[in-house]
Amino acid sequence: ATNRTFTMIKPDAVEKGHIGGILSMITEAGFRIVSLKLTQLTLADAQAFYAVHKERPFFGELVEFMTRGPIVAAILEKENAVEDFRALIGATNPADAAEGTIRKKYATSVGENAVHGSDSDENAAIESNFHFAGREQF
Ligand code: CMP
Repeated sequence: ATNRTFTMIKPDAVEKGHIGGILSMITEAGFRIVSLKLTQLTLADAQAFYAVHKERPFFGELVEFMTRGPIVAAILEKENAVEDFRALIGATNPADAAEGTIRKKYATSVGENAVHGSDSDENAAIESNFHFAGREQF
């Protein structure tokens, strides 16, 4: 079925000028852009967005990284969006990411890995509504 996922182009990729390259890979893979903006997470935003990871040893580093500069937030639509988008971005650690994936091309490390993709339809909806009002979802 046609459904939606949520993504962020993370501060590392924005800093390096990769917004256009990453959005091209996304649209060439057949995703329709439902919502799109350049924004910056506050500390409270990042702590709330990543609350499921708050007991992880890398939580502090993750929050610091995700707040250090602007990000691009987007909602994407396609047949089988969540699963297909995770395939397009590749493994969390770019050392394990397959050829042709966004992280293979643009990620630096397991932390600074260029893009986020929702891991379920339920989280896609939660994450989308965290960043975009209903009238911003086209
Ligand atoms: P993402 O899938 O967007 O959401 C959780 C993030 O935690 C993940 O991307 C990684 O960027 C980050 N992460 C996962 N494992 C580690 C790690 N070992 N060290 C630092 N960051 C990590």
